[in-house]
Amino acid sequence: MDEQAIIDGLKTICYCKGIPKKVFLRHIAAGASTVEDLKALTGAGSGACLGRRCTSRIEDLLKKS
Ligand code: FES
Repeated sequence: MDEQAIIDGLKTICYCKGIPKKVFLRHIAAGASTVEDLKALTGAGSGACLGRRCTSRIEDLLKKS
C-alpha cells in the first residue's frame, strides 16, 4: 500500500463517530454491500446527525468499490 492510499484511508467518513474510510473499505472487502450493512458493522449513522452527513459518503464508497 502506498503512502497516498494510507492517507486516503485515514479520511473521516462518519464525523460524529470518527470512523475513517479504511474501516468501511475493510468491511466492503469482506462482503458488506449495502449502506445498512456498513452502518450496522461500524456504528456510522448513529451519531448526533443520525447519518445526515455520512450516508451519502458511504453510498459513494459502495459505488466506487
Ligand atoms: S456523521 Fe455519521 S452519524 Fe453523523
